[in-house]
Amino acid sequence: MKVTVVGAGNVGASCAEYIALNRIASEVVILDIKENFAEGKALDLMQTATLNKFNTRISGSTNDYSKTANSDVVVITSGIPRKPGMTREELIGINAGIVKGVTENILKHSPKAIIIVVSNPMDTMTYLALKESKLPKNRIIGMGGILDSSRFKCYLSMALNAPASDISGTVIGGHGDTTMIPLTRLATYNGVPVSQFLADDVLKKVAADTMVGGATLTGMLGTSAWYAPGASVAALVDSILNDQKKIYPCCVYLDGEYGQKDICLGVPVVIGRNGWEKIVDYKLTAEEQALFNKSAEAVRNMNNVLSEMKA
Ligand code: NAI
Ligand code: 2OP
Repeated sequence: MKVTVVGAGNVGASCAEYIALNRIASEVVILDIKENFAEGKALDLMQTATLNKFNTRISGSTNDYSKTANSDVVVITSGIPRKPGMTREELIGINAGIVKGVTENILKHSPKAIIIVVSNPMDTMTYLALKESKLPKNRIIGMGGILDSSRFKCYLSMALNAPASDISGTVIGGHGDTTMIPLTRLATYNGVPVSQFLADDVLKKVAADTMVGGATLTGMLGTSAWYAPGASVAALVDSILNDQKKIYPCCVYLDGEYGQKDICLGVPVVIGRNGWEKIVDYKLTAEEQALFNKSAEAVRNMNNVLSEMKA
């Protein structure tokens, strides 16, 4: 199984590392536009192979897409990351050009690949990749909800003083500070609703912390986070390559599901060898559906900004 990671920066390298550490693929190619950068990251990672006891072959490429040929999965992390005070949306113009070019190049060499979009603003970049590539919708997956859910579960575990592995929780909607929707009603501690353990104001704070989870880290690190994003991508790749049929919230094309059409937005999906295979209906309350509709409106506005820029 071969995975290409485009962008050898923080998220790309971290994702390649988790794929190797968790023995998810036999081959990983990292590609970057910066001369020798991907080669350097790949060599550094390969020098951990004996220490970490993995057999994944990791190699680097400076913009030579022939090295990515016949990849099963391609992860697009190329682009510029968010700087402190910068919104994901401000990245749109620069990253749109990058994502479009990368998608074209990738498909020339890996026409059957499943594409995971990470670059921000991710919901709009996923929509762009789908429209430009004209691929079947199940083969384009935006990664955001897995990360946001992981942050949600982390904050819940801290509030509960419980192990994160005992927590279940999902964040749907857009991957933006104001567009994501932590589904607190459905979150559980070992199967029991978290509302049985935590007061309403604590749960509200957990949801609010989750929503600004990325911005908080950007403020602390001076650039956006990479460990949890890298691990989130690796989990997604694992479910695809090993046909695990895990349910993860991912940004996918909606054609009437969750009351929305012609938009890519985060909803729970079954992830397997064919990409996203099925949208799972969580039966939202009227309040949750209203938040979802608001999130869709914001993402649609962003998609329109992109269309106007192109016109
Ligand atoms: P980074 O700056 O560390 O790495 C980006 C890499 O992309 C750089 O090495 C750069 O040389 C490369 N690149 C730029 N143009 C390219 C091109 N045309 N072809 C190949 N490589 C190219 O950035 P980082 O932190 O890895 O973030 C990457 C992207 O992922 C950003 O847009 C960031 O906002 C986004 N992100 C999204 C998350 C999500 O949950 N969807 C989470 C974290 C980051
Ligand atoms: C994150 O959520 C900025 O999208 C990036 O960390």
